[in-house]
Amino acid sequence: MEDPTSKTAATYDHIAPAFAAGNEHPDAGLQLFRQRFADTVPAGGTVADLGCGPGRDAAWLGGRGLRVVGVDRSAAMAGLTAARGVPAVLGDLRRPPVAPGSLAGLWSVAALLHVPAAETEATLRAWWTALRTGGVLGLSTSAGDSEGWEEVPSAAGRHRWFVHRDPAALLHLLGAAGFETVEHGLNTAGRTWLSILAIKREV
Ligand SMILES: C[S@@+](CC[C@H](N)C(=O)[O-])C[C@H]1O[C@@H](n2cnc3c(N)ncnc32)[C@H](O)[C@@H]1O
Repeated sequence: MEDPTSKTAATYDHIAPAFAAGNEHPDAGLQLFRQRFADTVPAGGTVADLGCGPGRDAAWLGGRGLRVVGVDRSAAMAGLTAARGVPAVLGDLRRPPVAPGSLAGLWSVAALLHVPAAETEATLRAWWTALRTGGVLGLSTSAGDSEGWEEVPSAAGRHRWFVHRDPAALLHLLGAAGFETVEHGLNTAGRTWLSILAIKREV
């Protein structure tokens, strides 16, 4: 099967300005989770925002004294993040473009949901490798039990591949990949979001 993330990234290139305009203000649950993540990462630590989109969270985390780099597969999205003054690179969240063990924190919101389910385990292991021991993962992704193409409501003919993950199965994979989950919870805002704060442990 063709890699669905290519077509999904092309969709984001097309909708980037409208997406940015409609997603500038995180809901209350995400605001709390983001604050919790920022409080857990050591001050001044280096954080990668994987699937950073227009850079809302990357800029906010940078404003809290963290050294942030945004990573996105969509050039238009990476460009919007860079336009905020946050370093941003074109890259794939399945293989973070950073040195092994270099990150104090890894933040990823509403982006793992575009990675095919079959690639979940390899992606989590790559994230483990990118973090230093004790590094913090802040992950928010869609909860559910289905996978497939969804048309963008405001852009007829443009599609994104969505994976709605079973929370228990994802938490199990995180543990197997070498993460210790500190807390997790569900938040319903449009979709049902599973937020997970986890720490890299040595295995
Ligand atoms: C729903 S948006 C979320 C953006 C941002 N995290 C936020 O919460 O506003 C998903 C983002 O993930 C990016 N993305 C999708 N698949 C990706 C991949 N394999 N690697 C890097 N970025 C990816 C998209 O280009 C898009 O910018």
